[in-house]
Amino acid sequence: MTNKQITIIEPNAAGLARKGAEIFSRAAKESVDKRGRFAVAISGGSTPRSMHRMLGEEPFYSKTDIFWTDERCVPNNHPDSNFGAAKKDFLDRIPIPKGHIHPLQKGLSPEKGALWYQQKLIKFFQQKEHKFPLFDLIFLGIGTDGHTASLFPGQKALDEMERLVISVKGGDPYVSRITMTFPVLNHAKRIIFMVSGKNKADIVKTIFEFPKARLPAQRIQSLNGTLTWLLDNESASMLSKEHLHEKY
Ligand code: 6PG
Repeated sequence: MTNKQITIIEPNAAGLARKGAEIFSRAAKESVDKRGRFAVAISGGSTPRSMHRMLGEEPFYSKTDIFWTDERCVPNNHPDSNFGAAKKDFLDRIPIPKGHIHPLQKGLSPEKGALWYQQKLIKFFQQKEHKFPLFDLIFLGIGTDGHTASLFPGQKALDEMERLVISVKGGDPYVSRITMTFPVLNHAKRIIFMVSGKNKADIVKTIFEFPKARLPAQRIQSLNGTLTWLLDNESASMLSKEHLHEKY
């Protein structure tokens, strides 16, 4: 299995969302054709929302299971809930069986919630030969501090190599969170970073051009497939030419 890295730069946020939705649909159709199902993990924050709103009502949803890379420990109807946002943006609209939607938040304590979700992943992926779940597709964002999912700089969560899901505290909003760990994220067949806007240009440059920074987002390394950076002109605006990989 190759581990390839690709950079795609779209002219603007709308183009980025369209490309993201296109990649989502293509990966879904391919996975359902090949494996009879599509297991995807989506991230939170503001960047993926316009992509989620563009996702169409497609037949592959009957064989699709949606998980989250991370969640803030707030009620599902709270404005900071990643599940709540996705529900508004597309989950209430698409033809997906209710049992195929797997929110993280169950009103348990963060640590119990993390263990509960870990069990859910183990059961869903019936892991035998593979120690870690093999998602077909994972979407990630990055923060201006280089965090991804809810894996924040300087936290011991970054060194977790056994657990699939852990609880942490951090980020904006600064709350308890539940997050998938690097081994789970890095075993996905397709990993897509979606990054938009001028305020991310600096951190994108650091991630691409200063590997020694060892930021959480730099520890996303595809072990089983492809890692795609989906940027817009603004977030890619500080990248120097030689650091651009294959460009579509
Ligand atoms: C979260 C996210 C987080 C997000 C980045 C970027 O729940 O906070 O999963 O990792 O992707 O913070 O957020 P924005 O897209 O809002 O800039």
